[in-house]
Amino acid sequence: MVLLGNLEEAMSRLEEAITGRYTCESANSDQSLGCGETIGLAALRQGDIVVDLGCGSGKDAVAAAYVVGEEGHVIGVDMTEAMLEKARARQREAGLANVSFRLGTVEDLPVESETVDVVLSNCVINHVSDKAGAYREISRVLKPGGRFVIADVASRYQLPPEVTGDPQAWADCYGGAIPEEEYLAVIAAAGLREIKVLKRREYEKNGFPMISLTIEGKKP
Ligand SMILES: C[S@@+](CC[C@H](N)C(=O)[O-])C[C@H]1O[C@@H](n2cnc3c(N)ncnc32)[C@H](O)[C@@H]1O
Repeated sequence: MVLLGNLEEAMSRLEEAITGRYTCESANSDQSLGCGETIGLAALRQGDIVVDLGCGSGKDAVAAAYVVGEEGHVIGVDMTEAMLEKARARQREAGLANVSFRLGTVEDLPVESETVDVVLSNCVINHVSDKAGAYREISRVLKPGGRFVIADVASRYQLPPEVTGDPQAWADCYGGAIPEEEYLAVIAAAGLREIKVLKRREYEKNGFPMISLTIEGKKP
């Protein structure tokens, strides 16, 4: 993020904009807020331990819980309490015991190291200023041989400072986007391998050329 003012202030403005947006969005919790496809491409198996980063109202986490079955488990993590309330209500309604939800951030995951078979995430890491730290956390929680399928927003070129310095643009899923090549390099730098773009769709957001990417990869 291009910082206007001191770091602490900038981070707290960013967090406020993101939780503010998603607290409002939680009222329409039946709507998916994803930007790509994860579950349909993840080939989840019975018994898999899955983490859904930025799970929102828990739609994908609950869908994944049906696939992994009683021997598997799905953990949804989100930083917005109102979204987690919706997710827990969805779980109760589905009557599933193999899905749980935790308050936390992608940069500091409330998940033990090397316990996860598959990390999923849909339209979340663009909100995170420390993307390298986020992918290091993904690498930390994955078991060796574990994999990720992540949909996210990248930009087609470096966005201008008036966008990268605007917390509302970050909350609106474009201010925090980095160019595709840089994004893929961040994943590789976290030690993840077999990185492949499964889906790619170009579009415009407020006049800026963006890309929706669905990416898979593995922890060696
Ligand atoms: C665009 S919504 C996507 C929700 C869900 N994945 C879906 O597909 O419907 C982004 C979600 O990520 C959460 N989020 C944003 N930044 C986060 C962070 N750093 N750590 C954890 N959750 C975050 C927000 O609270 C919100 O619920």
